Amino acid sequence: MSVLDFFIGLAGGEPGRVFGYLTSGGTEGNMFAVWVAREQHPDAVLYASAEAHYSLPKLARLLRMPYVAVKTRADGTMDTSALVRELARHPGRAAVVTATIGTTGRGAVDDLPGVRRALAAAGVGRAWVHCDAAFGGLLAEFCDEPIPWNLASGADSVAMSGHKVIGCPVPCGVVLVPESDVVAIREEGVAVGSDDDTITGSRDALAPALLWYELRRLGRRGLADRALQCHRTAAHAERELARLGRNPSRARGGTIVLFDAPPQDFCHRWHLVRDESHAALVVMPHVTERHIDRLCAELATG
Ligand SMILES: Cc1ncc(COP(=O)(O)O)c(C=O)c1O
Repeated sequence: MSVLDFFIGLAGGEPGRVFGYLTSGGTEGNMFAVWVAREQHPDAVLYASAEAHYSLPKLARLLRMPYVAVKTRADGTMDTSALVRELARHPGRAAVVTATIGTTGRGAVDDLPGVRRALAAAGVGRAWVHCDAAFGGLLAEFCDEPIPWNLASGADSVAMSGHKVIGCPVPCGVVLVPESDVVAIREEGVAVGSDDDTITGSRDALAPALLWYELRRLGRRGLADRALQCHRTAAHAERELARLGRNPSRARGGTIVLFDAPPQDFCHRWHLVRDESHAALVVMPHVTERHIDRLCAELATG
């Protein structure tokens, strides 16, 4: 089993029709996918939700693409009605839309079929939909309810991370795009003994080996158990924080629990991201129900 084949299968891609490589992380995956998309549609405007990862506006600057941050709904997902209105402001131009599958701030999963419907409603014929699934791809794949997130659900490209849910100890990721579209960026034979069809030249050989080891060790079943465990622990946290009157909320398919913020020193001790009103408890595979119970006991005693 090669690492790439595993991810192509996970993302519902057709072997032989999908090009991919192991990146340095989610940012490079987003960058590569949007670059390939921009080569197909040189006049494209890049759209992503206002809660998308900061790499999106940054790579729009790098690629000199106009960038539109589409407003989000109360649940943190892209407002697809607002997307239709934004698309209408750029008549005749192609669109590259990034759907975030698990926002960094609260794990919200954008409505991928809804993005496709918005493009159709706005009459945009030349479009590319990229899924930034760096954080939530695996969580969406292995959720109790089906959540569209990948190539099989209508994305043209997908970027995923290897150091989040899979837990690779060095940063890495995977990007997948249509093989037929990579031709536009490929420079044949310019690298020693190979083509140049990636962003970086020399790349880390350790990360693929570590990923390969972990994927072999866990298998699809082990990964599913790991993701389901995160969902169960997040549900447990939501229940326990509700019992304490902390108004918890959790995005569909996500494992981040937002709740009324405790004092700063508490958040610091428990590694909770905090804004003026909320703390974010991010349930990753190492977080157990015992951690949640300890945190809640400490919260209860004030
Ligand atoms: C949704 C999302 N996209 C992209 C990234 C960027 O990933 P990396 O830090 O591996 O470049 C992150 C990282 O937190 C993320 O949460």
